[in-house]
Amino acid sequence: MIFKGWGQNLERNSALKGKFITFEGSEGCGKSTQSRKLCQYLKNNGYSVVYLREPGTTVISEKIREILLDPKNLIAPSCEMLLYMASRSQVVNEVIKPALSKGKIVICDRFFDSTVAYQGFGLGMDVDFIKILGKFVCDGIKPDLTLLLDLSVKKGLGYRKDSQDRIEKRPYAYHVRVRKGYLNLATLEPERIKIVKVAEDKAVTQEKIRKIVIDFIKPGKCISVVSRQLIADS
Ligand code: TMP
Repeated sequence: MIFKGWGQNLERNSALKGKFITFEGSEGCGKSTQSRKLCQYLKNNGYSVVYLREPGTTVISEKIREILLDPKNLIAPSCEMLLYMASRSQVVNEVIKPALSKGKIVICDRFFDSTVAYQGFGLGMDVDFIKILGKFVCDGIKPDLTLLLDLSVKKGLGYRKDSQDRIEKRPYAYHVRVRKGYLNLATLEPERIKIVKVAEDKAVTQEKIRKIVIDFIKPGKCISVVSRQLIADS
């Protein structure tokens, strides 16, 4: 399979027959809740799913996460970007590749698009350079489907007033750039990145997500689940 976008053509190892689904979005969009619900739904329906978050999941990546999100740390932009990439490199090699090679559905709460949106568009770092580095770090792994949960910055930040981490604490204008960056990515790759408008009712948002995912993994589209049928959520 040839992957286009991120400025490169990447050939994914054909042995990696699973499906890779990522969730993206700016602060407070609810992607962690929604991605966990989707994961549970797919498991309930007999799918073999691996769930992870970025930065984090592996021991090393969780340690990097602590450094990145601690508001006490003053981190240079280039160091910040490289730490996100370092964390990702570990997750790709330790978790994502092995799971995809076993034909699993991998659901990841954030991935490479976050770096383009937060460090590229948000901090103004060179997006082309980030993409080149991403090619090296992701080693041919690219999401098959990305659900971009879109919510206004005002509403998103409103949900997170109490416990703000180092990134959440950034000015409003930064978060507006991040959101615009995401929407820009979605226009560049409409086949992969599906925008899901966040509804007031979480169940409504989940329903929208399930429709997209069910269509995506239906027989014939996903090698790892060809023989399975989705049954109604009970
Ligand atoms: P989370 O709160 O969604 O778990 O993500 C942690 C924070 O890290 C969030 O503010 C977004 C930020 N982030 C980046 O700035 N760049 C990245 O590459 C990733 C994965 C996350």
